[in-house]
Amino acid sequence: MLGSARRRDMSEDAQKFELLADLGAMIAREVELDELLATFAERVARAMAADRATLWLVDSATGGLRARVANDAELDALRLPPARGLAGHVARTGDVVRVDDASTDPRWSRDHDARTGYHTSSVLAVPVDGHDGRRRGVVQILNKRGGAFTAQDEGFARVLADQIGRALDYTSLRGDGARAGVAVAGRFNHVIGNSAAMQGVYDAIQRAARTDAIVLLHGETGTGKGLIARAIHVNSARRDGPFVHVDCTTLPAGLVESELFGHERGAYTGADARVIGKVEAAAGGTLFLDELGELPLDLQGKLLRFVQERTFERVGGRAPLTSDARIVAATNRDLAAQVKAGTFRSDLYYRVRVVDIELPPLRRRGPDDILALAEHFVAIYARRYGKPAARLAPEARPVLAAHPWPGNVRELEHAIERAVVMCDDVIDADALGLLAVDDAPDDDAGADDAAADGAPPAGTAPPDAGAAVTLPADLPLEDAERRYARAALARAGGNRSAAARALQISRNRLARLLRDA
Ligand SMILES: Nc1ncnc2c1ncn2[C@@H]1O[C@H](COP(=O)(O)OP(=O)(O)OP(=O)(O)O)[C@@H](O)[C@H]1O
Ligand SMILES: [Mg+2]
Repeated sequence: MLGSARRRDMSEDAQKFELLADLGAMIAREVELDELLATFAERVARAMAADRATLWLVDSATGGLRARVANDAELDALRLPPARGLAGHVARTGDVVRVDDASTDPRWSRDHDARTGYHTSSVLAVPVDGHDGRRRGVVQILNKRGGAFTAQDEGFARVLADQIGRALDYTSLRGDGARAGVAVAGRFNHVIGNSAAMQGVYDAIQRAARTDAIVLLHGETGTGKGLIARAIHVNSARRDGPFVHVDCTTLPAGLVESELFGHERGAYTGADARVIGKVEAAAGGTLFLDELGELPLDLQGKLLRFVQERTFERVGGRAPLTSDARIVAATNRDLAAQVKAGTFRSDLYYRVRVVDIELPPLRRRGPDDILALAEHFVAIYARRYGKPAARLAPEARPVLAAHPWPGNVRELEHAIERAVVMCDDVIDADALGLLAVDDAPDDDAGADDAAADGAPPAGTAPPDAGAAVTLPADLPLEDAERRYARAALARAGGNRSAAARALQISRNRLARLLRDA
């Protein structure tokens, strides 16, 4: 994108082309919709020589219209009931409306002008539809400078609306699919991934967000539990309430109770004022209990009481208090195993797993998700480190997609961040610290070891093995063997016999390698 100073000097036509190009680029990258929308209104207005532009989105939760961005700052959270105003008319009927004097049009809602002292004369409003034909929103442009909107303006607005519709299709803003509109709340569109595994997660989030039920998010480290907890909050009716994050691992043992439930003045030495706890702070909103498995046993009992009865006491207090905070908990531990081991209360376990959402590890989400996430992080860190030209080398793509990502999205994010810092704009497998096995120099030591065990050396894949397997250059041979075996299994579509055949080892040896993984 160009700086705004330069854009001001561009012709109207050039601005229009650039706007469309930016939307196209955004669709390809599938990132930063919020950011684009933040400047969208201003740019549309300028490109069309108009005074103002607003993108109204149909809120899939209420059916009403919400202005995600209006370019008058005091009104950026504008809401309209479904049937109101010209935008409401366009949203309902799908008509394109072009009027020269809104003040004489019965469909124009005068409230807004009355409140702000703004005078609207000419209006151009065009529907924004998704590829499924459902209405997503309305682009509304006000007050053409020096006259009325032309048929040519209308043509451009239609193309623009079309592009916006496509952009919305490609983000997780799209709502729950069953209804028109988009989920307009918060940063949900920053959750990247369209794999079947993630569709299941989105579905579960939408369902969970509609209720106040306690939710347990479980998944390996770095799978996005923190991100999804927030997505549940901003997609719920509590979105305007607080989101309070408590990390049970970082709470000092002696202070957990007071942290969670607060304390009265004089409850213990040093408690010289009453302090409210997180449970109280999250009233009306969401309390995110991260790493729930780390909560000490005695506190589990108090938490259970709060979950069941909504009541709690401050440390040193006698009066039972209440809070309606909704709880979302997360864990990367196996709580069922902890119950067996006696370190987690079974009654609390059964209570929290009412709505249990598993976040899939990256290796189960497939190459498309991995690459979409990689592009997403390249865009983020390119901006952060002032390297706007940073991009993935085409050869790096299969390397990224084939890496097993034991640290999941967080590991991928760190690899990309490091690569953006180190690269000369083009990010290749080297910059990512991932070495393509096919390109790896022959390693005699490794070959001897593996040969002694009757296996072909890693790095000499059978000719029909298909895609390259990628391994970090400094991986111990044992780990390399395991990863290689896992990749072979994946290539064989999960068929162990076929994988063992391709690797020229016995099924037992393959099973052993997979078990150790
Ligand atoms: N689907 C996703 N789209 C975009 N970013 C993601 C996604 N999933 C995770 N991330 C990013 O990856 C990083 C790790 O995610 P997060 O901290 O939520 O993981 P976690 O499951 O809570 O990990 P841990 O168990 O280690 O606490 C964060 O920077 C997060 O924003
Ligand atoms: Mg976390």
